[in-house]
Amino acid sequence: MQRSVGWLTTVKRWLVDMTDRILVFGASGQLGSAVLATAPSTALEAPRTVDVADSQDVLDCVRKAAPDWVVNCAAMTDVDGAHQDPQRAFAVNALGPGNLARAAEDVGARVIQISTEAVFSGAAVVAYTEEDVCQPVSVYGSSKLSGESLVSIYCPGSYVLRTSWLYSDQRGTNFPTRVLNQLEDPGKKLSVVTDIVGNPTPTSLVADAISAILHSPPDPGVYHVCAGGPASKFDWAVEIAIWAGFDPGRISPVSSDAYPTVARRPKYVDLDCSKFQSTSLLELPTWRDAWLSEISAWDRRPGALDSSSANA
Ligand SMILES: NC(=O)c1ccc[n+]([C@@H]2O[C@H](COP(=O)([O-])OP(=O)(O)OC[C@H]3O[C@@H](n4cnc5c(N)ncnc54)[C@H](OP(=O)(O)O)[C@@H]3O)[C@@H](O)[C@H]2O)c1
Repeated sequence: MQRSVGWLTTVKRWLVDMTDRILVFGASGQLGSAVLATAPSTALEAPRTVDVADSQDVLDCVRKAAPDWVVNCAAMTDVDGAHQDPQRAFAVNALGPGNLARAAEDVGARVIQISTEAVFSGAAVVAYTEEDVCQPVSVYGSSKLSGESLVSIYCPGSYVLRTSWLYSDQRGTNFPTRVLNQLEDPGKKLSVVTDIVGNPTPTSLVADAISAILHSPPDPGVYHVCAGGPASKFDWAVEIAIWAGFDPGRISPVSSDAYPTVARRPKYVDLDCSKFQSTSLLELPTWRDAWLSEISAWDRRPGALDSSSANA
């Protein structure tokens, strides 16, 4: 089975000629590292010692860097951890972006704030647009939604990019790495939920969208940016298995009732990206094409997908 990966080869590296100064928070994370990898030499990494929840540290850091843009990839992304420590979640995910936006406004910069599909309830069965009502079902989603509001209040010329189900071959523990780690144990069978639906999106795609916005800013506001088409966790796990050369029959579909989590997850969030696509800044691939492109890169990572360990 062969699928088109043309979108990847046609992605433009927009920033080669940019002179704007870009300050990236959360640069050691999955997305932040992809943003830095895409960005021009004028991009700076905010030191991790600067806690976004500390307004004075943030102001000092932003004043010192004097950026044109602040890209905020920093967040408390542990959804269950946020439920258990709501104070910290709101400090990092809500006050943090607010601090960055105030500091950015102070130096005449604009913010690109990264947000999440978790601002929606997931009760709809149609794709959510930027105009749809946000009703988060978790502390994480609520804290991220508050962060969005504070950015738009303190720095109105800014952008909020909502994305979904990020993964990266470079950093972090994410869904594909967890599935692959289990599939690499030949005796292991997996049960994966069919009733949690989102848009699996490689960090490289969001990094490219950020680059495109920096290079050619559209109207400020909220944009949905992700790979297209909804997928359940089960759909995605099967695709991961197939493309990595494992037997997808080792993966059984189950209901999320069988796997209770500390914090609720929205059940069905398909982000409608028409608003971003109407800017013509970047073509957004389907989630399957995006995954195919990513896995071809993973193949080249030594030891990442050793076909001798496949149970195909
Ligand atoms: N992961 C997903 O599936 C997903 C889906 C939709 C949207 N998003 C959003 O996308 C963005 C990036 O997510 P990601 O997956 O790249 O997250 P990640 O890998 O967890 O990275 C988060 C980054 O933020 C840093 N950070 C955490 N607390 C901080 C603080 N108080 N001050 C400064 N830096 C702090 C982390 O540093 P340490 O590691 O040193 O703590 C790390 O560099 C976030 O806004 C997230 O909400 C993620």
